[in-house]
Amino acid sequence: MSEELLRAADEAAQSAYAPYSNFFVGAVARARDGRVFAGVNVENAAYPLGICAEKCCIGAAAAAGVKPGDLEEIAITASPCGGCRQWLAEWRLDRVTYRRGNGEVVTVTPADLLPDSFVL
Ligand code: THU
Repeated sequence: MSEELLRAADEAAQSAYAPYSNFFVGAVARARDGRVFAGVNVENAAYPLGICAEKCCIGAAAAAGVKPGDLEEIAITASPCGGCRQWLAEWRLDRVTYRRGNGEVVTVTPADLLPDSFVL
């Protein structure tokens, strides 16, 4: 299942808008009810305004009414950045599958990625 989701993320990455870094990232999450949401990194000429694929993906899920705890898993074509690790913790996914820089694919939990994460 995770491999299938990562394949979908690879497919999504082709739609990334990344003219500045040329680093195309895709993320696909599956909700417990089976709905699937895709996201890509969307860059901007004002560099810090760009958004990561994970945020785009979770944002799409949120817009469809999905709440933290409703997403079972996510697959990302790259190792999630620090900020996205905080997002993954907030959304309480069971599993996060991603491809490391060396090509290795791993499946971990948000807590593995960000121990002792900030929560209100
Ligand atoms: N990027 C993501 O989309 N997700 C991450 O977790 C790591 C970084 C994007 C942001 C930027 O558009 C490009 O990769 C290069 O940093």
